[in-house]
Amino acid sequence: MSLPGLRLLEKKFEAPIRLFELKRSALEKQIERQLREFEAKRAIRLDDDLRFIRSWLNKPLAIGAVTPSGRVLARTMAHYVDPNSDGPIVELGPGTGPVTQALVTKGIDPSRLVLIEFNAAFCRLLRARYPQATVLQGDAYGLRRLLDNYLYQPAAAIVSGLPLMTKPGSMRMRLILDALSLLAPGAPFVQFTYAVVSPLPKRLAGVRSEASERIWLNMPPARVWVYRRQGSVIRNQ
Ligand SMILES: C[S@@+](CC[C@H](N)C(=O)[O-])C[C@H]1O[C@@H](n2cnc3c(N)ncnc32)[C@H](O)[C@@H]1O
Repeated sequence: MSLPGLRLLEKKFEAPIRLFELKRSALEKQIERQLREFEAKRAIRLDDDLRFIRSWLNKPLAIGAVTPSGRVLARTMAHYVDPNSDGPIVELGPGTGPVTQALVTKGIDPSRLVLIEFNAAFCRLLRARYPQATVLQGDAYGLRRLLDNYLYQPAAAIVSGLPLMTKPGSMRMRLILDALSLLAPGAPFVQFTYAVVSPLPKRLAGVRSEASERIWLNMPPARVWVYRRQGSVIRNQ
């Protein structure tokens, strides 16, 4: 299409797009106001779903889901973690803690948990719910630096609820390589995704991957991927 043609097309869509943006922002404000009124009237604290929606409204791409993971998905994540393994268990992006709870229910001592979450409100909630766990507020993509003073031995598992698919492939790759370097050989890196494909390359030298069935009961349906280091991982592939 010619440049003047493109300009004309752009002009045609300018007004509807602006209107859509205005409406969206008004709708978000209205929902936010109603949530606050609801809290004030009932003198209650928002439950986890509402907390999540509120955070999602502020940062949809960073939160990556509208509601916390359901119980079946959380249990499937925890299924891949051996409570009898040795060493700390790291969770990336625990949010309001459904997977954390599944790990604890499975028999994992909360004092073994290191939770990395960048949302301050979620961190406060996690500290209140799991006082024995170590809660680090920070960017999980810098996990090597963040964990410098906290990993006293190789991790027994790293469990991630990060919305990986919102990040470029190179960032995801760096994350998995960093994570695998912090794990004991054969220990799992567990990741859930709503995507139909593996969020990380399936064929990575020295890494074995497996996937759960799609969990239709979760909304949206999700799948759990597990990656394990078998030998040394080659960085530049
Ligand atoms: C899809 S939610 C999953 C939350 C929870 N694990 C669950 O299953 O309900 C993603 C979580 O990752 C957190 N998050 C996103 N990017 C992050 C980052 N770079 N570092 C730490 N946490 C992050 C979000 O704040 C949010 O709590």
